[in-house]
Amino acid sequence: MINIHCMNAIAKVGTDQFGPGYELCDRLEAADAIMVRSAQLHDVEFPDNLLAIARAGAGVNNIPLDRCADQGIVVFNTPGANANAVKESVICGALLACRDILGGINWVHENVDEPQIAKMAEKAKNQFSGRELAGKTMGVIGLGAIGAMVANASRSLGMKVLGYDPYLSLRSAWSLDRHVKHVTNLDDILINSDFITIHVPATPQTKGMIGRSSIAKMKDGVVFLNFARDALVDEQAMAEALDDGKVSRYVTDFANPITANMPRAIVMPHLGASTGEAEDNCAVMAANQLKDYIENGNINNSVNYPHADFGPLVSGARLCVFHRNIPTMIGQITGVVSEAGLNIENMSDKSMGEHAYSLIDISTDVPDEVAQAVTAINGVTRARVLRK
Ligand code: MLT
Repeated sequence: MINIHCMNAIAKVGTDQFGPGYELCDRLEAADAIMVRSAQLHDVEFPDNLLAIARAGAGVNNIPLDRCADQGIVVFNTPGANANAVKESVICGALLACRDILGGINWVHENVDEPQIAKMAEKAKNQFSGRELAGKTMGVIGLGAIGAMVANASRSLGMKVLGYDPYLSLRSAWSLDRHVKHVTNLDDILINSDFITIHVPATPQTKGMIGRSSIAKMKDGVVFLNFARDALVDEQAMAEALDDGKVSRYVTDFANPITANMPRAIVMPHLGASTGEAEDNCAVMAANQLKDYIENGNINNSVNYPHADFGPLVSGARLCVFHRNIPTMIGQITGVVSEAGLNIENMSDKSMGEHAYSLIDISTDVPDEVAQAVTAINGVTRARVLRK
């Protein structure tokens, strides 16, 4: 029985994907795999039998990726599964920044008992008026699944769109509206946009990437939208830019003691992907990626191990080996396999940073002693044998 431990509420349509041979379990120590949303795992000690963690969502800054890779624990996320929900939130944020819609709604609440409210509204409305999105320039930093959707939606609202992404994938490039102008210098976005939206992961490299010097390059009165992660923005610098009017509105999905006290910020309680549809999509994708890895050793959408997919297991057995990305590993692993007289039908070895993953299809069964001998090789983190 494979034990799945959910560290947050995961949509049932997702956990239903597992079927026979799997069980949801309450005890972390018994977990073969973890499903998680926002629970912090940095201080969690993982059991030796833990094979994988699936994050039902995009951001993985709540998971210790390197420690997991060192232990041979594959971490998956679900890129794109909640992209539509986040796109809709970003567009909503841009619209809220255009007119003082929130101020107007509050005004109605404040005057709810006034019999003359209709007449008063006609007089009061001027203070909440604003501008339109059409004709303005939207700068999109990061053109992954979410950024590409935001870029296209902005185009369909009549905006000019600039997109910046030094790691633009072929899939995103294909999905982009042909009128989205791809720029190769971040400054082009900063200097030329009326609205800027950021869609990059929070990593040590991107932390605080929107700070004083980038804000100084922006147009006066720019609207900055952050539905990615608060750590990307130097919030002290943003607070000062809001105070002096350099940034007219900071729309952020991350409420914290600094943003909640910024007078011209529009702050939401991390609602970007909070829709039933997004939660279902993420849960289904996360569960299916876990299943495919557990049953077939295939790795799709991992953030700490490379992509590897041989499809369903049809040969005698499949040997899955996690190892350090150092010289002689492949020779040593295949050496053990050939010494045991086993025939390799198909093999791949791919690396991501310091870690690598070999997938080896063998014509016949692989005896447990062979897996043990592979595990004993210096530099091998974990070896699994999958049988039909
Ligand atoms: C994500 O990272 O997928 C979004 O921020 C939503 C979430 O955290 O669930």
